[in-house]
Amino acid sequence: MSILELASKRHSPRAFNGTGLTWNDLADGFEAARLSSSSYNNQPWRFVVALRGETGFEALLETAVDANRKWMKDAGAIVGVMASNVLEKTGETDHAALLGVGMAVAAMELSFTEKGLASMQVGGFDRGAFKSLLQLPSHLVPVSLLAVGRLPEGHVTSEKTRKNLRDIAFRVGDNII
Ligand SMILES: Cc1cc2nc3c(=O)[nH]c(=O)nc-3n(C[C@H](O)[C@H](O)[C@H](O)COP(=O)(O)O)c2cc1C
Repeated sequence: MSILELASKRHSPRAFNGTGLTWNDLADGFEAARLSSSSYNNQPWRFVVALRGETGFEALLETAVDANRKWMKDAGAIVGVMASNVLEKTGETDHAALLGVGMAVAAMELSFTEKGLASMQVGGFDRGAFKSLLQLPSHLVPVSLLAVGRLPEGHVTSEKTRKNLRDIAFRVGDNII
């Protein structure tokens, strides 16, 4: 599948069929993330993985807000996504950390899509609870929970609603809004 086909196919399903996933199912997605580019090659992405059936799965699920928890419970795995906001080479703030993490997760999700898996990120979770659960040092910032799994039988994908290209891509001199 081309990148455009993968990008069109990837969607946020808000539904999974409750089957478990293995590390092997997720391996290519993590490799795609690992190969992603980042400012100063700082590789700010950190992931904590909980497979369905593990106690960590319930613990991560618990941090999601109710509206997300009700469908995330059927995921095959939940990945906690974090950003390291310190440049390892200099100790300065990595102002591009979130961009780097976003790029890595994007690569991961397209790889999952290619493998026939569905995935969806949520920002609706309790960051304080997430930090406490994982006892995160202060340079690691919770970013999102990524639910990965298989779609239920007969799942209907909703149509993508997106801005037009002319509303997001401009030329110098245009009124950029
Ligand atoms: C960082 C991030 C956080 C999100 N948080 C939530 C969330 O908490 N709950 C939810 O239902 N959807 C969440 N979404 C899904 C978006 O609503 C969805 O990506 C968007 O509507 C576009 O739809 P699509 O992913 O199906 O193309 C999130 C997406 C991203 C990338």
